[in-house]
Amino acid sequence: MKAIEIRNKYLNFFKKNGHEIIPSAPLIPENDPSVLFTTAGMQPLVPYLLGEKHPNGTRLVDYQKCVRTNDIEEVGDNRHLTYFEMLGNWSLGDYFKEESIKMSYEFLTKELNIEPEKISVTCFAGDEDCPRDEVTAKCWKEVGIPEERIYFFGKDDNWWIAGEEGPCGPDTEMFYDTGKPKCSEECNPSCDCGKYVEIWNNVFMEYFKDKSGKYTKLKQHNVDTGLGLERMAMLLQGKETPFETEIFEPIMNKLVEIQKVDNIESRRIIAEHLRSSMMIICDGGKPSNIDRGYILRRLIRRMIRHMNNLQIPLEELSTLIDINVENLKEMYPILEEKRETLKTVITEEKDKFVKTLTKGEKEFIKEIEEVKKQGKDIVDGKMVFRLYDTYGFPPEVTEELARENGMQIDKKEFERLFKEHQEKSRAGAEQKFKGGLAGTGEMETKYHTATHLLNAALRQVLGEHVHQRGSNITAERMRFDFSHDNKMTEEEKQKTEALVNEWIAEAIPVEHIEMKKEEAIKSGAEAMFIEKYGDIVSVYKIGDKSIELCGGPHVSNTSELGHFKIKKEESSSSGVRRIKAILE
Ligand code: SER
Repeated sequence: MKAIEIRNKYLNFFKKNGHEIIPSAPLIPENDPSVLFTTAGMQPLVPYLLGEKHPNGTRLVDYQKCVRTNDIEEVGDNRHLTYFEMLGNWSLGDYFKEESIKMSYEFLTKELNIEPEKISVTCFAGDEDCPRDEVTAKCWKEVGIPEERIYFFGKDDNWWIAGEEGPCGPDTEMFYDTGKPKCSEECNPSCDCGKYVEIWNNVFMEYFKDKSGKYTKLKQHNVDTGLGLERMAMLLQGKETPFETEIFEPIMNKLVEIQKVDNIESRRIIAEHLRSSMMIICDGGKPSNIDRGYILRRLIRRMIRHMNNLQIPLEELSTLIDINVENLKEMYPILEEKRETLKTVITEEKDKFVKTLTKGEKEFIKEIEEVKKQGKDIVDGKMVFRLYDTYGFPPEVTEELARENGMQIDKKEFERLFKEHQEKSRAGAEQKFKGGLAGTGEMETKYHTATHLLNAALRQVLGEHVHQRGSNITAERMRFDFSHDNKMTEEEKQKTEALVNEWIAEAIPVEHIEMKKEEAIKSGAEAMFIEKYGDIVSVYKIGDKSIELCGGPHVSNTSELGHFKIKKEESSSSGVRRIKAILE
């Protein structure tokens, strides 16, 4: 049975049982900046689980697109996925344990034709917050599950909550017995040896856990169930991994055909991350250096590293995207609609990564040799961060490279530096109007520093009357407006360009200082809208070349900018000239 057939059977079965079919919410949660992606079907329904009336009634069914990235590094094994589809049925203060269990059992045994002997279930064993769930166990017995296949476990296994606080409750999980021998006498559904595979989770959501950890009863009892589609398809098709199902088969086959080096883990990573990236992009995701964008960037870049591992030409990406669109468009028609966007976004990210990859790998190898010389086997966090910050190396990539060299990375220290950086980027984004900064990605940051150098160079070449009048930055180029009356001569342009490149070559550190506004003005700091700043101002200083009031973010050293080139100089408005320039 194909995944789409399972999905359709599910929706129809619950429709027949009085449920309204509702559409999947987008992967990028609407109006919820607290989570990066939709991670479970219940997430978009939280207000209704808490008692708000749902326009479609009290019995709902849907399939929900989900992304979970906590286990991103596990992808490549035989089961982990970052993107998956969750089938779910809900009772919002409607039916409870008995009916929910009856329907689940009927769906599994009658619709999916799973032999009843293959099903085991688990129930909540009880603790000080909530009693042992005998009711659920009784319901299971009534539908025909014998006592020896009904297990009881504590909160670790049989309690469900999304995160730390919110609606929650005991759950009952259904397991499929693959028929493998028990790994030990004690082997049971909580064991992950592979004999038992969890297929469905019904949460009986009657509690609310608050920030302090206290549980209170909800106004209404709810049922929230989740059935992982890829896993079910895998089991029903008698496959060992989701990668052998029709969802991944075409792309896995293509990878075998075009690879020059054979590695199943790499193939799985490419197949999984490509599908996941495509789904995120379809819902509006864009690669960047923070939050959701960063996850997407990580997925794409990790995929590319593994294409390199298999020595697959990166131009093949377009074909791989086409294969996925063709294969998955029946399940997700949006893929067809977004085919071109998918190609553009992924190709652009690939191009960015390729540029930095070569440089970064060289840098990494240098560092590794140094670390080895010192007789150590840990790459320090600063280095990992530098590779990330300067070369766009996701830490997982560095970690993988390290592992290939028999080393580890100092992840803790990296995470500390990364957090610091994120906070700075955010502060920068809030202040973006001040410098006309459009984004805070790696390239935008470089261009941002380049505008400071250009401003300083123009003041040297054309005179002190030059001040910034505006700027506009994208990842591809910068535009800089400044006060000056005449068209610049060829010589002036060349001189300006040469000065900027000279300063880049000098590898000048970029310093971030906070000082009193008057002090900043006294020290001659350039400022575009002085009146917009508070008493304490943020100043960026580049050696003795430039000092400007600015919210950042900036690179930490001018050497990171590459080569600066003026593409055009033209009039912007009366008394204002405009330069378009690029970094290459
Ligand atoms: N919320 C539960 C889960 O994610 C059931 O849908 O497993």
